[in-house]
Amino acid sequence: MRTISHFLTDKTFLKKVFAYLEMHHEVLTVIVDKEGRIDPLEGWESREHPEKKFFPIAFDEDIGGVRCSAETQALLEAAEPHIQLSLDALHRLLEKALVMQQSMDEMLRLSDQLHFLFGLANKLAGVQDPEKYCRLVLQEIGRAINADAAFVYTRGKKSQQWKIPYRLPIQDIDALDKDPVLLSGSDGKTVIVTLQNGMSAVVTPIQEKEEQIGRMVFLRKPDRSVFSAYDKKFVSIINSIISPTMETLVLYHSLHVLYLNTVKALAAAIDAKDAYTHGHSFRVAKYSVAIGRKLKISDEELPDLEIAAYMHDLGKIGVSESVLAKPGKLSAAEFEEIKKHPLLTNKILEPIHLPDFIVNATLQHHERLDGRGYPFGLKGDEISLFAKIIAVADVFDALTSARPYRDAMTVENALTIICHGKDTEFDRKVVHAFFSALRDNVTDHDLAGVYADLKFMRLEQMNQFLEKLTQRLIGDQAELNTKSLTSSRQHECPESRSSSL
Ligand SMILES: [Fe+2]
Repeated sequence: MRTISHFLTDKTFLKKVFAYLEMHHEVLTVIVDKEGRIDPLEGWESREHPEKKFFPIAFDEDIGGVRCSAETQALLEAAEPHIQLSLDALHRLLEKALVMQQSMDEMLRLSDQLHFLFGLANKLAGVQDPEKYCRLVLQEIGRAINADAAFVYTRGKKSQQWKIPYRLPIQDIDALDKDPVLLSGSDGKTVIVTLQNGMSAVVTPIQEKEEQIGRMVFLRKPDRSVFSAYDKKFVSIINSIISPTMETLVLYHSLHVLYLNTVKALAAAIDAKDAYTHGHSFRVAKYSVAIGRKLKISDEELPDLEIAAYMHDLGKIGVSESVLAKPGKLSAAEFEEIKKHPLLTNKILEPIHLPDFIVNATLQHHERLDGRGYPFGLKGDEISLFAKIIAVADVFDALTSARPYRDAMTVENALTIICHGKDTEFDRKVVHAFFSALRDNVTDHDLAGVYADLKFMRLEQMNQFLEKLTQRLIGDQAELNTKSLTSSRQHECPESRSSSL
């Protein structure tokens, strides 16, 4: 029940008007709601005479009015002009109160918006992945305007296509986005529409260089109230603030994809040089990322590790094909030529000014913990973590791939050799992470290709084998008997570490 009282915080004027009518015109006044029920005024006695008349108060909504009464009809009629004058003054007061109330509500909303923006800015700070950025924005705005679901859909003509759901199965996005109301467009504005399925939707455009590339849509189920003009304004304001960042992120992401594709093209060019190492750089990148994940390398750093892995053998472009594809043992001179490839990689990458940790990873991937590696003979912690990871991935792929001078080794033998090289050739933690990644993925997809491509004896025995090997790796048990395996590797080159070249 809303009456005049609800809109007047200070009731002094109201009481003065009522007292004036009683004192000078013998009229009693009470406040009533739209049903005619009396709303008692605090500190004022609600009394009535037998002859009554209702005077409505005109307002945005029906808030009832006042009921005046007198002993006789004649008294009431005589007082009516004075009652009307008093009510006019009361009405003006109510209008002022309403404006003030609306201003207060607006200020509270603005304060809510500021609070929301501050929280959102904190959550978005440092997020570089556009997809993650969109998910956070959908989630935060969705909560703020009490949406049941939301999604981002971009067409991806120039940049990548995004389909990002919030509280919605991703497969529903296509059907929702084909709704004729959405397809008809919103002319670059934020709008409220009702979809064919009865859902209320706030739709806001996603722009890229003044062109609309998609939209962000917030949804409410048909059995709920539709979005309000305030919800629309809220989404529009937030969108205008986040859009420039979003555009920059999408542009940055497109450049990054272009950069990664260039790196992959380079890696493919190196792999193509030698039919026997076809796909080597790609597999090394895959294993390296799997190891990196196990070592808890952050999502921001993993792409750098992947890039370093793709480029680790870039310098082989400068090694003659007759040496690379030679069927049989390399001479000392030939091996010396092979050993130059990390330095050649460095030379190729120098003008690009890549971060040091990427360049160092490619430069050091043939270093050994015991200092017997090349090109610098670095030891232990002098070798970067990325290089240690790529070293394990590189040797594993080299051993399990066919070479002009030998068949591919079984995975079991390759892993046994790697296990044997712990603390001398390889970092024990890195080897452990690799075993762990392989064990996780026996039935998973990430490294599923490893099992399909490689020569396993018994896949179901892989877990048991890896567990046994891990025990050997971390325990102080006797080393595996790998003498025969080691000697077979020594056939490949004069150095003990030559299987990956
Ligand atoms: Fe290499």
